[in-house]
Amino acid sequence: MDWGMENRISRIIKPDTNRTVMLAVDHGYFLGPTSGLEDPAKTIEPILPYADSLMLTRGVLRTSVAPKSDIPIVLRVSGGTSIVGKSLANENITVSMEDAIKLNVSAVALSIFVGSDYEKETLTSLSRLVDAGEKYGIPVLAVTAVGKEMARDVRYLGLCCRIAAELGAHIVKTYYCDNFNRIVKNCPVPIVIAGGKKIEEKKALELAYNAVNEGAIGVDMGRNIFQSDCPQGMIKAVREIVHNKLSVKAAFDLYKSEKK
Ligand code: R5P
Repeated sequence: MDWGMENRISRIIKPDTNRTVMLAVDHGYFLGPTSGLEDPAKTIEPILPYADSLMLTRGVLRTSVAPKSDIPIVLRVSGGTSIVGKSLANENITVSMEDAIKLNVSAVALSIFVGSDYEKETLTSLSRLVDAGEKYGIPVLAVTAVGKEMARDVRYLGLCCRIAAELGAHIVKTYYCDNFNRIVKNCPVPIVIAGGKKIEEKKALELAYNAVNEGAIGVDMGRNIFQSDCPQGMIKAVREIVHNKLSVKAAFDLYKSEKK
């Protein structure tokens, strides 16, 4: 691996723990003004100090994050679909590698839709993105998007993660499921988990705990942080679980004390 690629990855995955807390606020690229992200700058500002990186689109990066910020950026570079369109899976690459470099990103992110009508297109987009990233030393994070009809189980997610890794993704983002450790075992690159839809705070902390306990290198969490009644308490609690192996109970107590 070349120096630039390795340096960028180490900005995201912290070398002292080999783990990471990524804050995902890219939802608007297909959901529009997502609840909690109506004013992204306002949402991001108080929780940013507790994130190791920020995953977002270039539009929100330019408008809502100060250029003097030193937070590593994971830039969402796939899209072209919306929640009211015909298929969410029909994504394409939406940002050139040159613009990602101009924005000084630490990685780029793209979704793959395995098993959908657009499986081939999204997988070949991933390959093209990896080729472009390799040219300039920019790591690629592949998101294993799950269509409504797909089961979020070990067989399906294991298939998606392995294919993403085989095609050259440097980090894979997927969902937690039963027997998650088997997904990790069969995937040769680091895995982070998405939080998914908002659930009770304690359940979200359990999710983070179980994922890292079973081999994930961290989380790329959005709604369960910024839609919480105490986003700062949640990200602090998640951070303690991911980097310091705090128990769910202690992390939940931390969230509750922050809430007070
Ligand atoms: C979805 O494709 C987006 O990449 C989200 O950023 C991702 O799902 C993580 O956010 P959440 O924790 O809200 O699921």
